Order: sequence, then C-alpha cells, then structure tokens
Amino acid sequence: MDTNFKTELEGLKNAFEEALSAYLEQTHFEPKILDESIRYSLLLGGKRLRPVLMLACAQMLGGKAQDVLPLAIALEMIHTYSLIHDDLPAMDNDDFRRGQPSNHKKFGEGQAILAGDALLSQAFSICIEECKKGRTYINGVSEICKNAGPYGMVAGQAADLFYQDGENVGKSVADFIVLNKTAKMIQSAVVVPAYIYGVDENIRSILEQFAVNFGFLFQITDDILDVEGSFEKLGKTVGKDAKENKMSCVNLYGMDKARELAEAYKENCLKFLGELPFECSFFESLVQYVRSRES
Ligand code: IPE
Ligand code: IPE
Ligand code: MG
Ligand code: MG
Ligand code: MG
Repeated sequence: MDTNFKTELEGLKNAFEEALSAYLEQTHFEPKILDESIRYSLLLGGKRLRPVLMLACAQMLGGKAQDVLPLAIALEMIHTYSLIHDDLPAMDNDDFRRGQPSNHKKFGEGQAILAGDALLSQAFSICIEECKKGRTYINGVSEICKNAGPYGMVAGQAADLFYQDGENVGKSVADFIVLNKTAKMIQSAVVVPAYIYGVDENIRSILEQFAVNFGFLFQITDDILDVEGSFEKLGKTVGKDAKENKMSCVNLYGMDKARELAEAYKENCLKFLGELPFECSFFESLVQYVRSRES
C-alpha cells in the first residue's frame, strides 16, 4: 500500500473514531444491557469504510470533516444495525463479526434485535438534528433515509433472504440484491457531501455512478473473500455463502467470472473518477485497495 494513501486512510479513520467516542461519551442508554450491546457492536472496529468515504468526499469537495462527522456516525450506526440483524439466526446465522462473537451470541437474540432497532432510531435522531442546519442537510439526510430503508438496504436484504436456496436466480435479481443491500449505503456515503455543499447536479451524478460501481466492487470482493479469505483477516466465518446457499456472485457466476466482474467494476470506478474535476488520487487508491483487500 502506498504510504501517503495509508497515512490518509488512517487519518480519516482516526478522525471518525474520535468523533464516535466523543459522541458515545455523552450518550448513555438504559437498561445497562442495551447500552452494553450497542457499544459492543459499534466499538468492535470494522473498516469504517462508509465514514471514510464520506469524510474523503467532503474534503475532495472543499469542505471539512466536521461538516459531515455527525452524519458519518449516523451512517455507521445504520450499517452496524444492518450487520447485527444480518448475523441473526433468522438471517445469515453468523456467530462471528469483526473478530468477536456476533451481538446475538453475546447478548441473546432479543437484545440483538433491540440493539439494531436502537441504532437505527438513534441514527435518525442524529439525522433530524443535522436537518436543523438547513435545506442542503435535509437533502443529504433524505438520501440516507431512502438508501437505508425499503428503497435501499432493507429491500436488498429482503431479496437476499427471499432468493436464498432459489433456483435460476439470474443477473437482474443478483444486481437488484447487490445494488440495494450494499451499493446504496455506499452511495449515501459519497453523495451526502455533494448534497450538503450543493454541488452541481452533473457532478453529483458522476459521484453517484462511481459509488454504485464501488458498491458492486465491494460486494463481489466480499463474496470472493467468503471463499478465498481467512477468518483471522476477515473476522467473520468464511464459507458461509456456499453452505447456506446464498445468492453470492461466486455461487452465481463462478470464481473466474466473479474476478472478471470485480475487475470491470474497478475499471468503471476509475473511469468515473477520471470524469471529476477534482484531484482524486485518494479515491483511486481506495478502489485498488478494495479490489485487493484481504480483510
Ligand atoms: C460488511 O460490510 C457487509 C457488506 C456489505 C459486505 P463491511 O465489510 O464494510 O463490514 P465492517 O464494517 O468492516 O465490519
Ligand atoms: C450483507 O451482505 C449486507 C448487509 C446489508 C449487512 P453479507 O451477508 O454478504 O455480509 P457479511 O458477509 O455477512 O459481512
Ligand atoms: Mg447477508
Ligand atoms: Mg451475512
Ligand atoms: Mg458476505
């Protein structure tokens, strides 16, 4: 990894971790088990990819991290809730997440469902607070709400579950699942700063297309790593997609084609970055990093 890129990535991740810690310091929930289970999943780590994308995009557009940090926290809370629920026995039945027992393994299924509910509600409270900053923030927050719910991540997860064990799942279903369950949350991360700073619609559209391709690249890589990755590096059980007969890109297309697709989405990402009138070497390196990631 290029040293400048690595330093910048760490810098953005640290800025987010500090803001999240500061937020959690002034926030306490009762009963204690709810407080503990929320903190457990939020502070377990994770790559913080969505917050990093949001902060980097704010900077690329000439803004400051502070402008978007509360919404980056909200987005990571929604993402964390989606992972807690995704791991439940009723969904993917995964015992490990971010290198530790999944939330329901530690606190029980009922508490895990509630920790997820709490994270989503709390994220929306943060969003409402941010809306008080004005019209452009309302536009950004609308994007987050739309992409998290039944026009976004929840729709993708519902289709993912529905088509589990399904015969003849074709490309259009697969694309619907990946677009909604994964790419739309990534789209929020990239496009929210564009709304906040009121950038030109053409530029916002390029950012959106970059983000969707990045989301596909990210999920295909996740599916590849489910076959070729290791528990030590990923912090989650591997081999689950085949075992549970999930609609993964590897199960659907085979490994060679999945790799080819990842490469094609990577090239699309770089193409859209090339159309932006900004210096975007950080994003170019991030694309390469996601393509070759092992964790
Ligand atoms: C996992 O997301 C869920 C997918 C969309 C594949 P991440 O791989 O970003 O999970 P964390 O946040 O780093 O744990
Ligand atoms: C999950 O996709 C996407 C979410 C919205 C949580 P996966 O089910 O493939 O994610 P992992 O592999 O459990 O992290
Ligand atoms: Mg899943
Ligand atoms: Mg899963
Ligand atoms: Mg997966």
